[in-house]
Amino acid sequence: MPIKLSISSSDPLSTVADLAVVGVPEGAKVEEGFLAQLAAALGPVVARNLKRDEFTGKKDQVADFPTNGAVKAARVVVMGLGKGPISDADVRVLAAKSARLALSSKSSSLTILLPQVAGAERAAAEGAVLGAYRFTRYFTGDRLPKVDLDKVTLLTNEKVGKPQKDAVALGEKIGSAICIARDLINEPPNELYPEKLADAAAKVCKDNGLACTVLDREALEKKGMKLIVAVGQGSARPPHFVHMTYKPKGTAKKRLVFVGKGLTFDTGGICIKPAPGMEEMKGDMGGAANIIALMAAVAAVKPASVEVHGLIGCAENMPDGWAYRPGDIFGSLDGKMVEIINTDAEGRLVLADCLAYGKDLKPDLMLDNATLTGACVVALGPTVSAFYANKDELAERMKKAVKDAGEAMWHMPLVEELREGLKSDWADLKHTADRWGGSITAALFLREFVGDAPWIHVDIAGPSMASKPYNVYAKGGTGHGVLTYLKLIDSFSSE
Ligand code: BES
Ligand code: MN
Ligand code: ZN
Repeated sequence: MPIKLSISSSDPLSTVADLAVVGVPEGAKVEEGFLAQLAAALGPVVARNLKRDEFTGKKDQVADFPTNGAVKAARVVVMGLGKGPISDADVRVLAAKSARLALSSKSSSLTILLPQVAGAERAAAEGAVLGAYRFTRYFTGDRLPKVDLDKVTLLTNEKVGKPQKDAVALGEKIGSAICIARDLINEPPNELYPEKLADAAAKVCKDNGLACTVLDREALEKKGMKLIVAVGQGSARPPHFVHMTYKPKGTAKKRLVFVGKGLTFDTGGICIKPAPGMEEMKGDMGGAANIIALMAAVAAVKPASVEVHGLIGCAENMPDGWAYRPGDIFGSLDGKMVEIINTDAEGRLVLADCLAYGKDLKPDLMLDNATLTGACVVALGPTVSAFYANKDELAERMKKAVKDAGEAMWHMPLVEELREGLKSDWADLKHTADRWGGSITAALFLREFVGDAPWIHVDIAGPSMASKPYNVYAKGGTGHGVLTYLKLIDSFSSE
């Protein structure tokens, strides 16, 4: 059941709720601001608890105050916001953490006092929805949660009118859009196979008034997208490709193309992966899931003067009598011939055809995102994505989007010396090089298919799934990246 989200200008202590959360900036004193109000209501216990918890407002510190009926909120928690200035991204995280705290403490109603920051209403709504997310579809009986968080009220010091209410409604839609990506990632691979992923994309388009074209295997063959077909040929579930389109009211000045890797399961194929952890490869469609979510979010934001295209390549990488093998050579939509080296490097093949399709749309920006390489996780750890760009000013724009979104991505170099490793003795290209610099060589391979389109590649192999919740992210599928892409679209739309 979706949570009921609302915004109000009443004060947090006199609003009935199981839990009230207030963010407090670093250096806060009991004599000042909200803490003073709390102390006036609850007495010296406030100062005592703050001291006991060594609460100074540092980021992520919390202090807890059972109120014993002294005020209308049953429990008040203050959360450290760290040193200012506080951004809307910080507000999003505050709201997500508050919602998680409400879930773990079985609170069915939550109030969050909004810091006075531009964009706080929308960001808090996004955060509340993202924090309240859980995936329970395959639980029965007593594994099902007993208490639902059904009411979240955002409290503001400002007057509440239509703009504030609209911002909350928009934030809720964006949060829910990102949860579509999470659901798809968490869905097991027996249930979510390529055709189903394509169906999910088509449904999002239908629900949101976006145009949508789906290519099945026959259509892919006809079109010449031979690399996607090759990757999928070992699976009983045929590959699919989806092209989703958002068009603005009035004329579009810019065309933006977003691409996602949609491997509904990656066994590695004939170069099969080791068994431990293989189940995580159900999430190898995280890039495609992000693009579906992004399109749903774009339909809600309705950015002006930009056209947004979403392309996803969906396939399942399986070992089989029909499976592609090392040594095989395939053509591609771009025309280049590719020699297969390791069938576990399937993602770049699927993306190559998607990128070749995308560049023909003559984009002002083409961005792909994919759970592409283990090497990326080795380099940056599980919480940071790598991004590459073929134009310096694009990298700068991306850096700003990443920061504004509060996500973690690191700009990596397209090291020219490594291009050498992709030379094949038998075809135009081989698709893998030496072991070293594995995330970079994957990016260099992709670059072969983008022509002169301004292009960004994001390797989300680490953060697309999380082993435990953090920031706005849930355990399992996170949707990491979508907030950044929205900021990027914003930057083109407001140009
Ligand atoms: N889907 C994997 C990459 C991956 C690994 C994603 C771990 C998330 C977590 C990808 O298809 C893959 O298998 N890549 C290979 C490439 C190699 C064979 C060149 C890898 O990283 O080992
Ligand atoms: Mn693989
Ligand atoms: Zn893969």
